[in-house]
Amino acid sequence: AADAPVTTASATPLIVAHRGASGYAPENTLVAADEAARLDTEWVEIDVQRTKDHQLIAMHDTTLARTTNAAAVFPDRSPWNVRDFTAREIARLDAGSWFGDEFLAERVPTLRQYLHRLTANDQKLLLEIKSPELYPGIERQILAELDRAGWLAEAYPGERVVLQSFSGDSVRTVHELAPEVKTGFLGTPPVAELPYYAEFSDQIGPRYTDLTAEYVAAIQAVDGVHGEPLEVNAWTINDGPTAARIAGLGVDGIITNFPDVVREAIGG
Ligand code: G3P
Ligand code: CA
Repeated sequence: AADAPVTTASATPLIVAHRGASGYAPENTLVAADEAARLDTEWVEIDVQRTKDHQLIAMHDTTLARTTNAAAVFPDRSPWNVRDFTAREIARLDAGSWFGDEFLAERVPTLRQYLHRLTANDQKLLLEIKSPELYPGIERQILAELDRAGWLAEAYPGERVVLQSFSGDSVRTVHELAPEVKTGFLGTPPVAELPYYAEFSDQIGPRYTDLTAEYVAAIQAVDGVHGEPLEVNAWTINDGPTAARIAGLGVDGIITNFPDVVREAIGG
């Protein structure tokens, strides 16, 4: 009808491989980034934490217990906190066998090693600063590492790297230290609080179960810190029907352990 509202189909959401293609390879390892590349997935997400001797590594949990053999190698060091181990100790650990015997050789990568691999694979990075309250000053250190590896060289590095955290304070710190860097706040802020997060964020990353079309639209109605509408990255969606439903809400990105499954469901 003549009075029907004009709608434009929104662009297909960007697909981000969560902890690499972690449905197929051990999370946050180099082979998980390679697997994402093999599945034609440009963007990968990792979690970054810091060792006892202040090296940056890719690791999701704040302990080494679930995704390495730390308990077997260091039986007396329960609960195997990441921050209580040196980089040299962590480099000895097997970070793959827990996922599958064929991944026995996988190690916990340093951020430097990970950036090197992404550069070789021509991939892009959604970097989560995990539990920053445990690692004072980690934001400055991550930015320095990215800079050293050449990742902040472009006028707008957001084409290649985005820094995100569940800690608003950490995201704010990143923005204050490096205002040109693209950032994301992980969480589901009330609509009334979106302008606060927009002071230092370009993206909002809610758990997909928190989303409605109205909430997605409300986020996108607010301009982010670089003057573009806030983007919505939904996590973590691992099956096709859910991916199709969430894409239908108009999100900008879908974070998934199975990028091929999501692509099959939504295109892109
Ligand atoms: O990128 C968002 C997502 O990674 C947040 O949850 O627990 O997997 O780090 P988590
Ligand atoms: Ca994460």
